[in-house]
Amino acid sequence: MSQVIDKAKSAFKAKFNTEPTMSAYAPGRVNIIGEHTDYNGGFVLPCAIKYGTGIAARENGTNKMRVLACDINNDFDEFEIGADIPKHPDKLWVNYLRGMTGLIAKKYPGKVKGLDLAICGDIPQGAGLSSSASLEVSFGHLVSSAFELGIALQDVALMGQAAEAYIGMKCGIMDQTISACGTADHALCIDCRSLKLTQVPVPSNLVVMVINSNVKHQLVGSEYNDRRESCEKAAKIMGVELLRDADLALLEKFKDQMDEVTYRRARHVITEDERVLKAMDAFAKGDLAVLADLMYQSHLSEKNDFEIVVKETDALVEIVHKTLGEGKHAARQTGGGFGGSIVAVVEPENVQKVTDAINAQYKAISGLDATIFETKACNGAQFARL
Ligand code: GLA
Repeated sequence: MSQVIDKAKSAFKAKFNTEPTMSAYAPGRVNIIGEHTDYNGGFVLPCAIKYGTGIAARENGTNKMRVLACDINNDFDEFEIGADIPKHPDKLWVNYLRGMTGLIAKKYPGKVKGLDLAICGDIPQGAGLSSSASLEVSFGHLVSSAFELGIALQDVALMGQAAEAYIGMKCGIMDQTISACGTADHALCIDCRSLKLTQVPVPSNLVVMVINSNVKHQLVGSEYNDRRESCEKAAKIMGVELLRDADLALLEKFKDQMDEVTYRRARHVITEDERVLKAMDAFAKGDLAVLADLMYQSHLSEKNDFEIVVKETDALVEIVHKTLGEGKHAARQTGGGFGGSIVAVVEPENVQKVTDAINAQYKAISGLDATIFETKACNGAQFARL
């Protein structure tokens, strides 16, 4: 955390020729289990990772946000503050900020003033680790704190989700909520309908590893929204508001009224919700054997029913599986899918074994090097006056 904030502070000084007066930070996330359940009103179990987005800022006395993006080749953009801010035609990164600013300005008319901002992050982009949610939450928390708007962290998360919709990504609430509300050494079980949060301690006998396939996923595309539409279609056919309200018995009852793809999409979500609740319990107890089975089932369901697994992430899961054997690891593709990372929960003495096996085998399968890191569960969004 401190590294990206320090980088943002120096970049701020170099760009704006003055000292920043505040900073903010929000982490990325890795999802332990519960994929594509959030927008179906179901359950998820993510934790905040050690990488995130840092911002250094200062009021600039204008009605404009002036933003330096250190990680996008020091790209710069400025835009007028107001309730209806047009999207930039080709700079996706700034549209997250335009979206957030518009939402906050609409809710708090006249309160948001111009800021100079320098933004630096260290979450690998396209890795399924929520770099965009961390940007939205870090910025939203900064604006709320700078102008004493007192927006609750869960509401900052909801605004982040709305900013994604402004851009065209109809995502759920998981990524922004964990980025805003994560607690050190805990995963967070989110009931995505009631938005009730339950902290689940990371057991001391286990380590969370993230293995990035380096196959970039880009979710502002049709695949994600397509999956969501199939889920909505299945819920409609079964006469329930959300797939959260369905169980397998109901799904079987309506099987004949659905096309085969819609049926399988719904089966993934319904079975995944059940797995999250069981996994939450196994995780809290440090019961690796039970967690291993649930996470492997989750991976297979993502692969066969939801069809969001690519061959590279599948290969990574299989390497971990073969290296440690049944019950000795819990691994699955994490995040929105179509590339990105896998998450593996293992005993500390097995981290090296997994790392060596991936380094030895993955390139021959994919032509790529994987990036591997261990992470503690970290705190969510933070703000400081400097
Ligand atoms: C993306 C979305 C989340 C969630 C996951 C899949 O990360 O932003 O809301 O739907 O995909 O679980």
